Amino acid sequence: MRGAGAIVARVLAETSAAVRPGITTEELDRIAARIIRSMGGTPSFLGYHGYPATICTSVNEEIVHGIPGKRVLREGDVISIDAGAIWQGYQGDAAVTVAVGQVSPEAERLMQVTRQALEAGIAAARAGQRLGDVSHAIEMVARAAGFEVVREYGGHGIGRAMHEEPRILNWGPPGRGLRLRPGMTLALEPMLTLGDYRTRQLDDGWTVITADLSLAAHFEHTIAITENGAEVLTTAQH
Ligand code: MF3
Ligand code: CO
Repeated sequence: MRGAGAIVARVLAETSAAVRPGITTEELDRIAARIIRSMGGTPSFLGYHGYPATICTSVNEEIVHGIPGKRVLREGDVISIDAGAIWQGYQGDAAVTVAVGQVSPEAERLMQVTRQALEAGIAAARAGQRLGDVSHAIEMVARAAGFEVVREYGGHGIGRAMHEEPRILNWGPPGRGLRLRPGMTLALEPMLTLGDYRTRQLDDGWTVITADLSLAAHFEHTIAITENGAEVLTTAQH
């Protein structure tokens, strides 16, 4: 899974670096496909329940599962890039949200807090703790900053399949749910909104947007529970 994670980390680093006003989301998709192939991996999203691309690119009010296409990124947009790869039978899944050029202060803060919410979830994902502690840690960071948490989507177990048990909410009470044990591998993925948390799905059957069209941000890492805290797997391996 570290191998798959390293591929995903590289995809996110290179696609994020390519983000600028004027680039299309399908150009980012092509970059991702080239990197995954060059590192000996397989894209996990392509063909998943018929998903038509290598990555998900979700712009502004789009929360997750935006499909890359002809859309041209503009100064002031925020774009979430979500990538998944398989390496030697194992999965990695991660996402970042980045600014296109200069963005509003609220957009900056939303991205920063969503990243912090993910970090808080990772810090709470210790052996002996419960899943609810992770969910709660994520929610508390969002709430303290005055942002809303998307309720219907969340993280998941991951391993040989991209989506495994358990489902991981980004909200809820602490002290409940599955007890975390060394060896468990999870994808944590908080999705925060500037306005209402309610969502709507577009007619393309994939893209999830905020019902009130407020901005959303999304960060994700695949992690492993170890004896000494969580290890982030979707990172460059040394
Ligand atoms: N990180 C996203 C998730 O766990 C990946 C969606 S992949 C798609 O839901 F193939 F369904 F697009
Ligand atoms: Co995921």
